[in-house]
Amino acid sequence: MSLFQATISYKGETRNIEVSTSTTAGELFEKVKHLFYLKNEHHTVKLLYKGKMLRADDASIVFAQMPPKPPKLIVMASSQNAVQEVQTKRSDPTIRGFDHSNATKVIDTRTVWGTGQDIQYKFVKFEVCTWQSFGVRATAEEQPHPFAARQLLEQLATDPGVVAVMRERKLVVNTLGEMDPIDDRLMQKKQEHGACLLGYNTNHGLAIHIRLRTMDLKGFMPYTQLVTTLIHELSHNWVGEHDLLFWGNFAQMRVEYLHTHARLAAHGYISKGKSTAVIAGVSVECQNGMAGIADAAMKELAGEMPQYGLSPLPLGPAIIDRCRQLTEQFENLEQGRKLGGSDQRKDARRAALEAAEKRVKDSTQKRDKR
Ligand code: NI
Repeated sequence: MSLFQATISYKGETRNIEVSTSTTAGELFEKVKHLFYLKNEHHTVKLLYKGKMLRADDASIVFAQMPPKPPKLIVMASSQNAVQEVQTKRSDPTIRGFDHSNATKVIDTRTVWGTGQDIQYKFVKFEVCTWQSFGVRATAEEQPHPFAARQLLEQLATDPGVVAVMRERKLVVNTLGEMDPIDDRLMQKKQEHGACLLGYNTNHGLAIHIRLRTMDLKGFMPYTQLVTTLIHELSHNWVGEHDLLFWGNFAQMRVEYLHTHARLAAHGYISKGKSTAVIAGVSVECQNGMAGIADAAMKELAGEMPQYGLSPLPLGPAIIDRCRQLTEQFENLEQGRKLGGSDQRKDARRAALEAAEKRVKDSTQKRDKR
């Protein structure tokens, strides 16, 4: 067993505590509550490590081996009153989740999607650049207002495809922020890694910053590009380098994102007169079910990976697998709901998926011949 220091942050205050390779999640909760005087009966305490929520009743070990640097943990505590408020909101039908996918009209007018973030797995706060931060580079009348930037961050956070990814991986990101196109940290990163010019991820998902504006500051980047950047940065929660593992993780999240929009479109889900797939700009990708989604994910990888000296072909099978899992998962759900009647559609989807598999296989074989 090795002893080492961990840093714990709570409301801007950072303290060190001693932990070891045998400290459990439950023990960490006790230490943290003691350290910051958080009492069970007054507070609901959440503890984040590497962008993931630890559980107070978890007896498993948090640090299997001594990390090279002191690990950083974040405490989020809410008073019981605030928790009660959230719980009342949970039963509010205006923010019910997508499990009720027969809905065909707007149920929450506060977002462009008609729905909000998950209550638990979400981006906690938003940060935008102020006009002052751009200095003399642009004039106020030419550039979008910081308010519009904030709306765009909220649109990203509440995008049903992003919400699905956050839920699936139980992610909590403390800050989703706007990055200045001419950011010092960005320039430094460019020099170090030669890539990732559209966003950065701080401390495994504690904060994610996205470059919203074009270089001349006169407008925003296309929405589909922003979502792809956000998912790219989320993939850095687990993998720092742009290796095969990173892209595999990224591709799975892209598949989940597109699948969510395809599913909502298939259920005729409409917000502000449009399907959410149209709002997200992915209606073409979502047209041909899983085959179309697998193709779209492969194409994206083919556009991104070569600059890192990698080929997307080894990831083809994993993409198909994830598509198949999602298809089965939601077919089971639907069958449970309807008890039959969807056989024909299921066959069509299966055929489409097989066609996609064959295409990936063919392209692999072609490559092997070279
Ligand atoms: Ni990157």
